[in-house]
Amino acid sequence: MKKYKIAVISGDGTGPEVVTEGLKVLEAVSQKSGFNCETVKYDFGGARYLKTQETLPDSAIAELKKFDAIYLGAIGHPDVKPGILEKGILLRLRFDLDQYINLRPVQLYDERFCPLKNKTPEDIDFVVVRENSEGLYKGMGEFKDKGTPNEVATQISYNTRKGVERCIRYAFEYTKKNRKRKQLTLCGKTNVLTYAWNLWERTFQEVAKEYSDIQTNYTHVDATTMWFVKNPEWFDVIVTDNMFGDIITDLGAMIQGGMGIAAGGNINPEGVSMFEPIGGSAPKYTGQNVINPLAAICAMAMLLRQIGETKAADLIENSAKLIVRTKLKDLAAGKMGYSTTQVGDLVVKSL
Ligand code: IPM
Ligand code: MN
Repeated sequence: MKKYKIAVISGDGTGPEVVTEGLKVLEAVSQKSGFNCETVKYDFGGARYLKTQETLPDSAIAELKKFDAIYLGAIGHPDVKPGILEKGILLRLRFDLDQYINLRPVQLYDERFCPLKNKTPEDIDFVVVRENSEGLYKGMGEFKDKGTPNEVATQISYNTRKGVERCIRYAFEYTKKNRKRKQLTLCGKTNVLTYAWNLWERTFQEVAKEYSDIQTNYTHVDATTMWFVKNPEWFDVIVTDNMFGDIITDLGAMIQGGMGIAAGGNINPEGVSMFEPIGGSAPKYTGQNVINPLAAICAMAMLLRQIGETKAADLIENSAKLIVRTKLKDLAAGKMGYSTTQVGDLVVKSL
């Protein structure tokens, strides 16, 4: 029997509640599909930081590299200053494990949950490939004359040819292997950010020559947000940089029904990848058993797909889809008509 090792970081707030449901589904699907998963829990997060003043121990990265994948709940604590846990845990894991792709599918399961008029599951079915290791997230910049009236703050978008090219290549390969329509859109800002996006555009056009079967186009990021609302059916796969990808995928999550259903993967195609629901730790719902675990459950499906358990991934996704279509009253916390635990049970039952 195939055996996998999965590191589990439940994290803060409602993270542990949704992770519990994801692991419940993993247990059931692995029995059905005939593979075995050993899970090892790590307590990284706000609570640990408040106790120890440490975000990640130095040994963490080396240790995590030994796993087949990482399953993450949520990082973020109301008593910790913004930025500390984000930079110290989430971004550090993404960077140090070189998870240079953030893969975020945007798929509407049921038109009842779309805030847009007259859009159906056929209209909203695309994937955002977000660069996950560079750009504005690199943390380059400085203050000058801090605290004075002449203060200047700079924040640099750092784009390397290698970083841009590996992301674009991943997007082309992904489109070729996984999508029927085979259409790839570069989303940028070539009209204003003329250094960074010139590099992206040149690289995109060069790589495109190797993929004659893929239809390519370009949209500015501002227009992209407009099309997400007006004509989301135009998109198949979108590739973009770290910052733009962060912004457009929150909008993407909303048009697919909200954070309750949005999952994503931080992928190192040559190393260890990490999967998470893309919403935050939702502190105000903590401990109430009302948060929607489907985003975490769908993140588990993405994890299994990445490690090669395609059938198990399909099983979970189909069950999640069925539950959304036939059971849930709403996808938002507290409005589903079921508790967190019950939604997990429903998915398990329909596997
Ligand atoms: C996300 C989040 C993170 C990001 C934050 C929490 C650092 O918003 O995963 O999209 O900006 O990437
Ligand atoms: Mn975000």
